[in-house]
Amino acid sequence: MITIGIDLGTSSMKLLAVREDGRILASSRQEYALSFPRTGWAEQNPEDWWKACLRGLSELCAVIPREEVAGIAVGGQMHGLVALDGADRVIRPAILWNDGRTTKEVEFLNETVGKAVLSERTGNIAFAGFTAPKLLWMREHEPERFEKIRKILLPKDYLNHRLCGGYSTDYSDASGTLLLDVRGKCWSDEMTDLCGIGRERLPALYESWEAVGTVRDETADEVGLPRGIPVFAGAGDNAAAAVGTGTVNDGACNLSLGTSGTLFVASDRFRIDPNNALHAFAHADGRFHLMGCMLSAASCNAWLGGTVLREPDPEALQREIRPERLGENTVWFLPYLMGERSPVNDASARGAFVGLSMDTSRADLVQAVLEGVSFGLREILDVGRGLGLEIGSATLCGGGAKSALWRTILSSVLNLRLDLPATEEGPGYGAAMLAMVGCGAYPSVPACAAALVRTKGFLEPDPELAARYEERYQTYRKLYPATKDLFRTGEE
Ligand code: XUL
Repeated sequence: MITIGIDLGTSSMKLLAVREDGRILASSRQEYALSFPRTGWAEQNPEDWWKACLRGLSELCAVIPREEVAGIAVGGQMHGLVALDGADRVIRPAILWNDGRTTKEVEFLNETVGKAVLSERTGNIAFAGFTAPKLLWMREHEPERFEKIRKILLPKDYLNHRLCGGYSTDYSDASGTLLLDVRGKCWSDEMTDLCGIGRERLPALYESWEAVGTVRDETADEVGLPRGIPVFAGAGDNAAAAVGTGTVNDGACNLSLGTSGTLFVASDRFRIDPNNALHAFAHADGRFHLMGCMLSAASCNAWLGGTVLREPDPEALQREIRPERLGENTVWFLPYLMGERSPVNDASARGAFVGLSMDTSRADLVQAVLEGVSFGLREILDVGRGLGLEIGSATLCGGGAKSALWRTILSSVLNLRLDLPATEEGPGYGAAMLAMVGCGAYPSVPACAAALVRTKGFLEPDPELAARYEERYQTYRKLYPATKDLFRTGEE
C-alpha cells in the first residue's frame, strides 16, 4: 500500500508517496507565489495551490507504482480564509495565517467581547491570523464580497474540495478558526452569529483519519491515479507534523522551524493556558495539544539571505559564521517581520537589528537571525514551562532543521535535547500516516506513529554555550518592550 501525504505550505507544496512500512518512495515540491499587498498583509491564490497539487500528483504518479496508491491526505497551513460563492468560486485571495490586517477586529474580540468569553466558547482568544477576525474584517471592509460568501474553508480543505467535492474540515485545523468549541468538538453558534455567518456556511467536521470523499474521476484521469482513491480529512500542518514526528504521547513536544516557528505539546486531555498565550487546539490523533506559534522563523533567513543579501545559496551564508562566535554575537535580531503571535500577540510589532557597529559583518547578521528566532522559541518554551509542562526534550522538523549550525544554536538557547526524526518532512509524512490509518493499515494514529517514526540522532545542549546564550537571552527579552511603541500604526 502507498499513501500520498501533501504538505500545503506557505512557500511551497511538498508531496510524498509513502509505503505502509514508512519508506518514502518519491517526493515532489511545487512552488507558488506569496503576496504581501500591504505591510503586514499576506495572501495567496487558492487556484495556485490547486495547480501545484495537480502538477505534484502527476509527478509522483509518473515514478511510483500508482496502482498501489490507496489514499491521500493533506496537512495544510492553518487559519487561512478561503471564501467561496454559491458557484464554488473563490471570492477573494486567501487571507493567510500570518496576515496582520485585523488589529481592530482582534481588539474588538478580545476587549469588547472579552477574552474570558472567547476562551469559554472556544478555548482560545483572538489572534490576528485566526479566521474569525478575518471574517469581521471582510464584513467591514468588503461588504459586497462578504455577502456573497456561501462556504468558508481552510486552505487544505479547499484542496480536498477540489480533489473530491464536498466541504469538510478536521478538528485540528478547525481549532484555529476561533469558531470551534475545541473542548466540545463542535462549531460554536455564538461565534458564528458574532461573525455574521450561519452554521451552514461552515464545513462538516471530521477526525483527521476519516474519509471525506474520493478523488473525482476527471482529476484521477488527469494526474494518473487509479479511480476511486479515498481522501481523508487531514490536519492543520502543525498537528500533521506532530504525527509525522511521533508527537502523540501526553507531554511529547515537537518544534517546527518552517516559515513559522512552533512549539507543539501533545496532551491526552483538553487543557487551557489561563493566559491564552498558547493555543488550546485539537490534535490529529483524536486528542488535544497546546501550541505557541512565531509568525516568522525560517522565513527570516530567507528574507535576509534572499531579499536583502541576494545570496542564492543560504548555506554559503551560514558557512561564514565561525564556531567560536557562537554565544559571542553583539548583534541581536527581533524576528517580528510579520508582527508576532506567541507570546506577545501584537500584529504591529516589527523586526529589528540591534547592536550594529562598524565591525559588524554579514555573518554576524545571519547569526543574529538564527539566534533571534531561537530566542523567540525560547520565550514560548518558557511560557509552556510556566504552565507546568515538563518539556525535557523535543523533536525538530521543518526546513530550518536541516541546518546543523541552527540546530546547535537552538539546542543551546533552549537548553534542551533535540531528537532528530529520520525525516524532516513533518506535515507531509504525518498526512501520509493519517491516510494509512484511514485505509486501515494501522488501528490508530499512535499505533502508526509507534510503528513508523524513527529518529536518526539527537543533540544535547552544550552547557558552556547554553550559559552564554542564557545571558544574551536576557538582553533579547528587553528588545520587544523597548521597541513595541515605535511601530504602532493608525490602522484603518
Ligand atoms: C499555526 C500557524 C502556522 C501555520 C503555518 O497556528 O499559524 O504554523 O500553520 O503553516
